[in-house]
Amino acid sequence: MAVLDIVKYGDPILRKKCKFVDDFSNIGTVVDNMFDSMYEAEGIGLAANQVGINLNIFVIDITHTEESDESYGFINSSILESSSNESSSSEGCLSLPNISLDINRPERIKLRYQNIDGDWCEDDFSGLLSRAIQHENDHVNGIMIIDRVSKIEKLKHKTALKELEINSKKPTKYNLARKESLL
Ligand code: CO
Repeated sequence: MAVLDIVKYGDPILRKKCKFVDDFSNIGTVVDNMFDSMYEAEGIGLAANQVGINLNIFVIDITHTEESDESYGFINSSILESSSNESSSSEGCLSLPNISLDINRPERIKLRYQNIDGDWCEDDFSGLLSRAIQHENDHVNGIMIIDRVSKIEKLKHKTALKELEINSKKPTKYNLARKESLL
């Protein structure tokens, strides 16, 4: 088990389009560590770049609801179809602490992805699962919820965002570890 630090708004890795996974030999461990980190942070979804890993992977667990009794790992995902019906709901993000925003999203999607064994799958999703998948699929494409609201709405959070940006430039344990691994 490994709990990894959650990367916050302001860190450039959150703005990267994550790399396609073609080697699945170590993916089980990466996914396990992502679940551990997500549970520790009390989140319901987590993308790999949120723990400093530049790979197209995200995990979701909404078993606290009636809607689903399993947890999911999605790799190399892409949304093939979205319903024209949209709905708005409040979303939070582990990389944007203490901010919640009303986000409009299609209600249903068709997703193409690989499971942790590397098998290609195509499935339809609706409800909270569809919303969570769209939120995480945005992350692996470098998009955050703050990009999906109006300028006026974004302005309301200007101070909090600025503070996160300043903090992300301080040398945290995570940043130091990453620098060392680059040597
Ligand atoms: Co998020």
